Amino acid sequence: MTITKAVIPAAGLGTRFLPASKAIPKELLPVVDTPALEYVVREAAAAGLTNVLLVAGKTKGAILDHFDRAWDLEAILQAKGDTVRLEAIRESANLAKVHAVRQAAPLGLGHAVLCAREHIDGEPFAVLLGDDLIDQRDPLLPTMMAVQDRLGGSVVALMEVPRDQISLYGSAAAQPVPDQALDGLGIGPETVFALSRPVEKPSPEEAPSNLAIIGRYVLHPAVFGILEQTPPGRGGEIQLTDALATLAGRPPTQGGGLYGVVFRGRRYDTGDRLSYLQAVVQLAVDHPELGPAFANWLQGFAATLPASRQGG
Ligand code: G1P
Repeated sequence: MTITKAVIPAAGLGTRFLPASKAIPKELLPVVDTPALEYVVREAAAAGLTNVLLVAGKTKGAILDHFDRAWDLEAILQAKGDTVRLEAIRESANLAKVHAVRQAAPLGLGHAVLCAREHIDGEPFAVLLGDDLIDQRDPLLPTMMAVQDRLGGSVVALMEVPRDQISLYGSAAAQPVPDQALDGLGIGPETVFALSRPVEKPSPEEAPSNLAIIGRYVLHPAVFGILEQTPPGRGGEIQLTDALATLAGRPPTQGGGLYGVVFRGRRYDTGDRLSYLQAVVQLAVDHPELGPAFANWLQGFAATLPASRQGG
């Protein structure tokens, strides 16, 4: 079955970015010259997920406006003959069919996904978390969708992290899936794992592995019935990871089975101020127009930093 729907939770309060996120949703903060959320919608669209549901909070209007036509602005740019910017603002409106549903209260990621139930209508679907940007040169979702199509169940993206960082993520125990089961999919060895015991933000001692769940999921719709029954977990929130634990223990005939695809490409984290700044710099260096001049300046600037401030 071809998956066409993506769910993007975008209802966070953005407290880590205050005061910048006081009136603007953090999802619309620019990474170089484009809102973080647009990168994520682009990634979904590039993977064929052209039906996008944003699970939004009180800033739903601003978020939807970004993916809508802006006739007044278009008319001004047209009159000026500024075709480059005109194309840029039209493109964000043409990437995908963008819908929104409101998450009335911030009850957790699992609750945000549950808000998508009616829109999804019983099909497997993708979830993309806006704090994780995946470089367009290293596509991840197509592999995850191919694995879901072949093995069924649900699939999460994984990344190896140092043990002392595992408590920032969900984690799970992993058993390699035999290569024969993935024949013809063009996936390299030691990439796909069968997962058990997923747990949200474990301590390094209790973590089942050093594989962190990163913000891309391809989920079986059985997750909705489970989320409905999932009590608040870590941090008092309804955790998607807890629902994945139930899915992992269910037979395939009931939508069970949980797999992980290890991602070894370029990922940028925009979840807190430091990682956000790093993401901006990394993507600015690669920017087709600004990159060469910015990289040149950056090299000179880095050389002026006192040694005590380097590597800190
Ligand atoms: C969420 C998930 C967590 C996952 C992480 C990836 O946590 O709950 O399992 O590892 O995203 O970024 P959050 O970062 O929203 O606290």
